[in-house]
Amino acid sequence: MSIETLFDKVDLGNNLTLNNRIVMAPLTRSKSDDELVPTEAMAAYYGRRADAGLIISEATLVAADGQGYPNTPGLYTEAQVEGWQQVTQRVHQNGGKMFAQLWHTGRVSHSIFHDGQPPMAPSAIELHGRVPRYADLEYGTPRAMTEAEIERLIEDFGTAAANAKKAGFDGVEIHGANGYLIDQFLHWSTNHRDDSYGGSPEKMSRFLFRVIDRVSKEIAHVGLRLSPAAYIHIEHDARDKAVFDYLLEQLNNYSLSYVHGGIFNDEPFDHLQGTVTQYIRHHYRGTVIASGGYDAKSANSMIVAGDADLIAIGRPFIANPDYVSKVRNQQQPVPYEESMLAELI
Ligand SMILES: Cc1cc2nc3c(=O)[nH]c(=O)nc-3n(C[C@H](O)[C@H](O)[C@H](O)COP(=O)(O)O)c2cc1C
Repeated sequence: MSIETLFDKVDLGNNLTLNNRIVMAPLTRSKSDDELVPTEAMAAYYGRRADAGLIISEATLVAADGQGYPNTPGLYTEAQVEGWQQVTQRVHQNGGKMFAQLWHTGRVSHSIFHDGQPPMAPSAIELHGRVPRYADLEYGTPRAMTEAEIERLIEDFGTAAANAKKAGFDGVEIHGANGYLIDQFLHWSTNHRDDSYGGSPEKMSRFLFRVIDRVSKEIAHVGLRLSPAAYIHIEHDARDKAVFDYLLEQLNNYSLSYVHGGIFNDEPFDHLQGTVTQYIRHHYRGTVIASGGYDAKSANSMIVAGDADLIAIGRPFIANPDYVSKVRNQQQPVPYEESMLAELI
Protein backbone atom coordinates (compact mmCIF):
# COMPACT_ATOMS: atom_id res chain seq x y z
CA MET A 1 0.00 0.00 0.00
CA SER A 2 1.42 3.38 -0.92
CA ILE A 3 1.66 6.13 1.65
CA GLU A 4 0.48 9.48 0.32
CA THR A 5 2.28 12.66 1.23
CA LEU A 6 1.64 16.34 0.69
CA PHE A 7 3.54 16.30 -2.59
CA ASP A 8 1.68 13.40 -4.19
CA LYS A 9 -0.77 14.16 -6.96
CA VAL A 10 -4.48 13.75 -6.30
CA ASP A 11 -7.28 12.94 -8.72
CA LEU A 12 -10.46 14.98 -8.17
CA GLY A 13 -12.38 13.04 -10.84
CA ASN A 14 -13.69 14.18 -14.24
CA ASN A 15 -10.15 14.65 -15.60
CA LEU A 16 -8.89 16.98 -12.92
CA THR A 17 -5.58 16.04 -11.31
CA LEU A 18 -3.83 18.30 -8.82
CA ASN A 19 -0.03 18.43 -8.62
CA ASN A 20 0.05 18.30 -4.83
CA ARG A 21 -2.25 18.24 -1.81
CA ILE A 22 -1.68 21.78 -0.59
CA VAL A 23 -4.75 23.94 -1.19
CA MET A 24 -4.72 27.71 -0.89
CA ALA A 25 -7.75 28.34 1.35
CA PRO A 26 -10.32 30.96 0.31
CA LEU A 27 -9.14 34.29 1.74
CA THR A 28 -11.19 37.47 1.45
CA ARG A 29 -8.90 40.41 0.70
CA SER A 30 -11.37 43.19 -0.26
CA LYS A 31 -9.16 44.44 -3.08
CA SER A 32 -11.60 44.39 -6.00
CA ASP A 33 -12.45 47.70 -7.62
CA ASP A 34 -15.62 49.61 -6.77
CA GLU A 35 -17.63 47.65 -9.36
CA LEU A 36 -16.45 44.51 -7.51
CA VAL A 37 -14.27 43.55 -10.49
CA PRO A 38 -11.02 41.62 -9.85
CA THR A 39 -7.95 43.68 -10.69
CA GLU A 40 -4.55 43.11 -12.28
CA ALA A 41 -2.99 43.18 -8.78
CA MET A 42 -5.26 40.26 -7.84
CA ALA A 43 -4.17 38.35 -10.98
CA ALA A 44 -0.54 38.83 -9.95
CA TYR A 45 -1.29 37.82 -6.33
CA TYR A 46 -3.02 34.57 -7.29
CA GLY A 47 -0.48 33.94 -10.08
CA ARG A 48 2.34 33.98 -7.50
CA ARG A 49 0.62 31.17 -5.60
CA ALA A 50 -0.06 28.87 -8.59
CA ASP A 51 2.22 26.12 -7.29
CA ALA A 52 -0.47 25.19 -4.76
CA GLY A 53 -2.22 22.01 -5.92
CA LEU A 54 -5.46 24.01 -5.94
CA ILE A 55 -6.29 27.66 -5.28
CA ILE A 56 -9.76 28.40 -3.96
CA SER A 57 -10.64 32.01 -4.69
CA GLU A 58 -11.67 34.44 -2.01
CA ALA A 59 -15.43 34.34 -1.41
CA THR A 60 -17.13 35.70 -4.54
CA LEU A 61 -20.65 37.12 -4.68
CA VAL A 62 -23.32 35.40 -6.74
CA ALA A 63 -25.52 38.52 -6.66
CA ALA A 64 -25.27 42.17 -5.62
CA ASP A 65 -27.60 41.52 -2.69
CA GLY A 66 -25.09 39.05 -1.24
CA GLN A 67 -22.56 41.73 -0.32
CA GLY A 68 -21.50 42.23 3.30
CA TYR A 69 -17.98 43.68 3.05
CA PRO A 70 -16.42 46.39 0.88
CA ASN A 71 -14.68 45.54 -2.40
CA THR A 72 -15.32 41.80 -2.39
CA PRO A 73 -15.46 40.45 -5.95
CA GLY A 74 -18.54 39.21 -7.78
CA LEU A 75 -19.36 36.81 -10.61
CA TYR A 76 -22.61 38.31 -11.84
CA THR A 77 -21.53 41.02 -14.35
CA GLU A 78 -19.67 40.77 -17.64
CA ALA A 79 -16.86 42.99 -16.31
CA GLN A 80 -16.42 40.70 -13.28
CA VAL A 81 -16.19 37.65 -15.57
CA GLU A 82 -13.50 39.46 -17.62
CA GLY A 83 -11.65 40.45 -14.45
CA TRP A 84 -11.58 36.83 -13.30
CA GLN A 85 -10.44 35.71 -16.77
CA GLN A 86 -7.15 37.55 -16.27
CA VAL A 87 -6.77 35.84 -12.88
CA THR A 88 -7.41 32.29 -14.10
CA GLN A 89 -5.19 32.83 -17.16
CA ARG A 90 -2.30 33.82 -14.90
CA VAL A 91 -2.84 30.84 -12.61
CA HIS A 92 -3.04 28.45 -15.56
CA GLN A 93 0.06 29.95 -17.25
CA ASN A 94 1.92 29.24 -14.03
CA GLY A 95 0.70 25.63 -13.94
CA GLY A 96 -2.01 25.95 -11.27
CA LYS A 97 -5.71 25.10 -10.91
CA MET A 98 -8.34 27.36 -9.42
CA PHE A 99 -11.93 27.09 -8.14
CA ALA A 100 -14.22 30.07 -7.48
CA GLN A 101 -15.85 30.16 -4.06
CA LEU A 102 -19.54 31.09 -4.57
CA TRP A 103 -20.96 33.23 -1.77
CA HIS A 104 -23.92 35.10 -0.36
CA THR A 105 -23.51 36.66 3.09
CA GLY A 106 -27.22 36.57 4.10
CA ARG A 107 -27.58 38.32 7.45
CA VAL A 108 -23.82 38.95 7.87
CA SER A 109 -24.37 42.26 6.14
CA HIS A 110 -25.76 45.71 6.71
CA SER A 111 -28.27 48.01 5.05
CA ILE A 112 -25.40 50.27 3.85
CA PHE A 113 -24.76 47.60 1.20
CA HIS A 114 -28.44 47.44 0.17
CA ASP A 115 -29.64 51.01 -0.38
CA GLY A 116 -30.80 51.29 3.21
CA GLN A 117 -32.84 48.05 3.18
CA PRO A 118 -32.04 45.20 5.59
CA PRO A 119 -30.16 42.23 4.13
CA MET A 120 -32.09 39.02 3.55
CA ALA A 121 -31.64 35.72 5.37
CA PRO A 122 -33.58 32.51 6.05
CA SER A 123 -35.25 34.13 9.08
CA ALA A 124 -35.46 37.60 10.61
CA ILE A 125 -33.07 36.87 13.50
CA GLU A 126 -30.72 39.59 14.67
CA LEU A 127 -26.96 39.23 14.37
CA HIS A 128 -25.08 40.94 17.21
CA GLY A 129 -21.71 42.52 16.60
CA ARG A 130 -19.99 45.25 14.67
CA VAL A 131 -19.51 45.39 10.92
CA PRO A 132 -15.78 44.94 10.10
CA ARG A 133 -14.14 48.11 8.75
CA TYR A 134 -17.14 50.24 9.86
CA ALA A 135 -16.36 50.56 13.58
CA ASP A 136 -19.51 52.55 14.37
CA LEU A 137 -21.94 50.21 12.58
CA GLU A 138 -23.75 47.34 14.27
CA TYR A 139 -25.26 44.43 12.41
CA GLY A 140 -29.04 44.31 12.70
CA THR A 141 -32.08 42.21 11.98
CA PRO A 142 -32.35 40.86 8.43
CA ARG A 143 -35.65 40.21 6.70
CA ALA A 144 -36.79 36.66 5.97
CA MET A 145 -36.50 35.60 2.33
CA THR A 146 -39.69 34.84 0.45
CA GLU A 147 -39.98 31.58 -1.46
CA ALA A 148 -39.75 33.59 -4.70
CA GLU A 149 -36.45 35.06 -3.49
CA ILE A 150 -35.20 31.58 -2.65
CA GLU A 151 -35.99 30.48 -6.22
CA ARG A 152 -34.20 33.51 -7.63
CA LEU A 153 -31.15 32.96 -5.46
CA ILE A 154 -30.83 29.33 -6.53
CA GLU A 155 -30.82 30.65 -10.10
CA ASP A 156 -28.17 33.22 -9.13
CA PHE A 157 -25.93 30.43 -7.85
CA GLY A 158 -26.44 28.62 -11.18
CA THR A 159 -25.65 31.73 -13.23
CA ALA A 160 -22.56 32.45 -11.16
CA ALA A 161 -21.36 28.86 -11.74
CA ALA A 162 -21.88 29.32 -15.50
CA ASN A 163 -19.96 32.59 -15.26
CA ALA A 164 -17.17 30.83 -13.34
CA LYS A 165 -16.83 28.42 -16.24
CA LYS A 166 -16.76 31.32 -18.72
CA ALA A 167 -14.10 33.00 -16.60
CA GLY A 168 -11.88 29.92 -16.93
CA PHE A 169 -12.17 28.47 -13.42
CA ASP A 170 -11.56 24.72 -13.13
CA GLY A 171 -14.52 24.37 -10.79
CA VAL A 172 -16.46 26.07 -8.02
CA GLU A 173 -16.69 25.70 -4.27
CA ILE A 174 -20.12 26.38 -2.80
CA HIS A 175 -19.59 28.45 0.34
CA GLY A 176 -21.80 26.69 2.85
CA ALA A 177 -19.59 27.60 5.83
CA ASN A 178 -18.71 30.32 8.35
CA GLY A 179 -22.21 31.49 9.15
CA TYR A 180 -23.09 32.95 5.74
CA LEU A 181 -26.38 32.46 3.93
CA ILE A 182 -26.29 28.72 3.17
CA ASP A 183 -24.96 27.99 6.67
CA GLN A 184 -27.80 30.11 8.12
CA PHE A 185 -30.25 27.58 6.63
CA LEU A 186 -28.32 24.72 8.27
CA HIS A 187 -28.42 25.91 11.90
CA TRP A 188 -31.39 26.09 14.25
CA SER A 189 -30.40 29.45 15.75
CA THR A 190 -30.68 31.16 12.35
CA ASN A 191 -33.38 29.08 10.64
CA HIS A 192 -36.87 29.38 12.17
CA ARG A 193 -38.73 28.82 8.91
CA ASP A 194 -41.92 26.79 8.97
CA ASP A 195 -42.11 26.17 5.22
CA SER A 196 -40.28 23.51 3.21
CA TYR A 197 -36.87 25.10 4.07
CA GLY A 198 -37.00 24.80 7.87
CA GLY A 199 -38.15 22.73 10.83
CA SER A 200 -36.27 19.45 10.28
CA PRO A 201 -32.79 18.34 9.11
CA GLU A 202 -34.25 17.39 5.71
CA LYS A 203 -35.99 20.73 5.20
CA MET A 204 -33.09 22.79 6.56
CA SER A 205 -30.74 21.06 4.08
CA ARG A 206 -33.08 21.56 1.14
CA PHE A 207 -31.75 24.96 0.07
CA LEU A 208 -28.18 23.59 0.00
CA PHE A 209 -29.15 20.54 -2.04
CA ARG A 210 -31.08 22.66 -4.52
CA VAL A 211 -28.02 24.91 -4.92
CA ILE A 212 -25.77 21.86 -5.46
CA ASP A 213 -28.16 20.47 -8.09
CA ARG A 214 -28.42 23.82 -9.90
CA VAL A 215 -24.69 24.58 -9.84
CA SER A 216 -23.82 21.03 -10.97
CA LYS A 217 -25.79 21.63 -14.18
CA GLU A 218 -23.31 24.36 -15.13
CA ILE A 219 -19.86 23.10 -14.23
CA ALA A 220 -18.26 19.66 -13.84
CA HIS A 221 -16.29 20.21 -10.64
CA VAL A 222 -18.22 21.28 -7.58
CA GLY A 223 -16.75 21.34 -4.08
CA LEU A 224 -18.54 22.29 -0.89
CA ARG A 225 -17.36 24.03 2.28
CA LEU A 226 -19.30 23.37 5.49
CA SER A 227 -19.05 24.40 9.14
CA PRO A 228 -20.71 21.62 11.16
CA ALA A 229 -19.53 23.36 14.35
CA ALA A 230 -21.04 26.83 14.60
CA TYR A 231 -18.05 28.98 15.48
CA ILE A 232 -18.55 32.34 13.82
CA HIS A 233 -21.64 34.48 13.10
CA ILE A 234 -23.94 31.69 14.46
CA GLU A 235 -24.78 30.34 17.91
CA HIS A 236 -24.49 26.62 18.54
CA ASP A 237 -27.70 24.65 19.12
CA ALA A 238 -27.62 21.03 20.31
CA ARG A 239 -29.99 20.08 17.48
CA ASP A 240 -27.50 21.17 14.77
CA LYS A 241 -25.57 17.91 14.79
CA ALA A 242 -28.57 15.96 13.52
CA VAL A 243 -28.74 18.33 10.53
CA PHE A 244 -25.11 17.68 9.62
CA ASP A 245 -25.36 13.91 10.34
CA TYR A 246 -28.19 13.83 7.82
CA LEU A 247 -26.71 16.05 5.15
CA LEU A 248 -23.20 14.53 5.17
CA GLU A 249 -24.70 11.07 4.65
CA GLN A 250 -26.83 12.42 1.80
CA LEU A 251 -23.75 13.96 0.17
CA ASN A 252 -22.47 10.42 -0.43
CA ASN A 253 -25.10 10.22 -3.19
CA TYR A 254 -23.62 13.24 -5.00
CA SER A 255 -20.46 13.37 -7.08
CA LEU A 256 -18.83 16.37 -5.47
CA SER A 257 -15.14 17.11 -6.02
CA TYR A 258 -14.70 17.33 -2.23
CA VAL A 259 -16.11 18.44 1.11
CA HIS A 260 -13.99 21.07 2.89
CA GLY A 261 -14.22 21.88 6.60
CA GLY A 262 -14.70 25.54 7.48
CA ILE A 263 -13.11 26.22 10.88
CA PHE A 264 -10.28 28.45 12.17
CA ASN A 265 -8.61 25.87 14.41
CA ASP A 266 -9.33 22.23 13.72
CA GLU A 267 -9.57 21.16 17.35
CA PRO A 268 -12.00 18.65 18.90
CA PHE A 269 -15.60 19.58 19.73
CA ASP A 270 -17.25 17.39 22.38
CA HIS A 271 -20.57 17.23 20.56
CA LEU A 272 -18.90 16.13 17.30
CA GLN A 273 -16.77 13.57 19.16
CA GLY A 274 -13.70 14.86 17.37
CA THR A 275 -12.47 17.61 15.11
CA VAL A 276 -14.52 19.00 12.23
CA THR A 277 -12.31 17.04 9.81
CA GLN A 278 -12.73 13.79 11.75
CA TYR A 279 -16.48 14.32 11.91
CA ILE A 280 -16.74 14.97 8.16
CA ARG A 281 -14.52 11.97 7.44
CA HIS A 282 -16.70 9.77 9.62
CA HIS A 283 -19.84 10.50 7.59
CA TYR A 284 -18.60 11.42 4.12
CA ARG A 285 -16.83 8.85 1.94
CA GLY A 286 -15.52 11.19 -0.80
CA THR A 287 -12.50 13.51 -0.91
CA VAL A 288 -12.03 15.61 2.24
CA ILE A 289 -10.10 18.88 2.64
CA ALA A 290 -8.99 19.68 6.20
CA SER A 291 -8.33 23.26 7.25
CA GLY A 292 -7.73 25.36 10.32
CA GLY A 293 -4.33 25.96 11.88
CA TYR A 294 -2.25 23.42 9.94
CA ASP A 295 1.46 23.76 9.19
CA ALA A 296 3.63 21.65 6.88
CA LYS A 297 4.29 19.03 9.54
CA SER A 298 0.76 18.58 10.84
CA ALA A 299 -0.59 18.73 7.26
CA ASN A 300 1.74 15.98 6.12
CA SER A 301 0.87 13.81 9.14
CA MET A 302 -2.84 14.17 8.32
CA ILE A 303 -2.25 13.00 4.75
CA VAL A 304 0.07 10.15 5.72
CA ALA A 305 -2.44 8.93 8.32
CA GLY A 306 -5.24 9.13 5.74
CA ASP A 307 -7.25 11.50 7.94
CA ALA A 308 -7.74 13.94 5.05
CA ASP A 309 -6.96 13.95 1.31
CA LEU A 310 -5.90 17.59 1.01
CA ILE A 311 -5.06 20.37 3.44
CA ALA A 312 -6.13 23.97 2.97
CA ILE A 313 -3.68 26.58 4.22
CA GLY A 314 -4.98 30.10 4.86
CA ARG A 315 -3.04 32.69 6.85
CA PRO A 316 0.42 31.31 5.97
CA PHE A 317 -0.43 31.86 2.29
CA ILE A 318 -1.18 35.53 2.98
CA ALA A 319 2.27 35.94 4.51
CA ASN A 320 4.16 33.71 2.06
CA PRO A 321 3.44 33.83 -1.68
CA ASP A 322 6.14 31.12 -1.98
CA TYR A 323 4.59 28.94 0.76
CA VAL A 324 4.71 25.75 -1.33
CA SER A 325 8.38 26.06 -2.24
CA LYS A 326 9.21 26.89 1.37
CA VAL A 327 7.49 23.68 2.48
CA ARG A 328 9.22 21.70 -0.25
CA ASN A 329 12.63 23.09 0.78
CA GLN A 330 11.89 22.83 4.51
CA GLN A 331 12.30 26.56 5.03
CA GLN A 332 10.52 28.38 7.84
CA PRO A 333 7.54 30.43 6.54
CA VAL A 334 7.18 34.09 7.60
CA PRO A 335 4.59 34.26 10.44
CA TYR A 336 1.23 35.81 9.52
CA GLU A 337 0.29 39.18 11.00
CA GLU A 338 -3.00 40.99 10.56
CA SER A 339 -1.18 44.07 9.25
CA MET A 340 -0.31 42.01 6.16
CA LEU A 341 -3.92 42.30 5.01
CA ALA A 342 -3.24 45.88 3.89
CA GLU A 343 -1.35 44.89 0.74
CA LEU A 344 -1.49 42.02 -1.77
CA ILE A 345 2.04 40.67 -1.65
C1 LIG B 1 -8.18 37.28 6.16
C2 LIG B 1 -9.01 36.04 6.05
C3 LIG B 1 -9.99 35.96 5.08
C4 LIG B 1 -10.77 34.79 4.96
N1 LIG B 1 -11.69 34.70 3.95
C5 LIG B 1 -12.39 33.56 3.77
C6 LIG B 1 -13.27 33.42 2.66
O1 LIG B 1 -13.41 34.31 1.81
N2 LIG B 1 -13.96 32.26 2.55
C7 LIG B 1 -13.82 31.23 3.46
O2 LIG B 1 -14.47 30.20 3.32
N3 LIG B 1 -12.96 31.34 4.50
C8 LIG B 1 -12.23 32.46 4.65
N4 LIG B 1 -11.32 32.53 5.67
C9 LIG B 1 -11.02 31.33 6.48
C10 LIG B 1 -9.83 30.57 5.85
O3 LIG B 1 -10.20 29.99 4.61
C11 LIG B 1 -9.30 29.44 6.76
O4 LIG B 1 -10.34 28.51 7.00
C12 LIG B 1 -8.81 29.96 8.10
O5 LIG B 1 -7.93 31.05 7.92
C13 LIG B 1 -8.10 28.85 8.91
O6 LIG B 1 -6.99 28.36 8.21
P1 LIG B 1 -5.47 28.82 8.56
O7 LIG B 1 -5.25 28.49 10.01
O8 LIG B 1 -4.60 28.00 7.66
O9 LIG B 1 -5.40 30.28 8.32
C14 LIG B 1 -10.55 33.70 5.83
C15 LIG B 1 -9.57 33.80 6.83
C16 LIG B 1 -8.79 34.94 6.94
C17 LIG B 1 -7.71 34.99 7.98
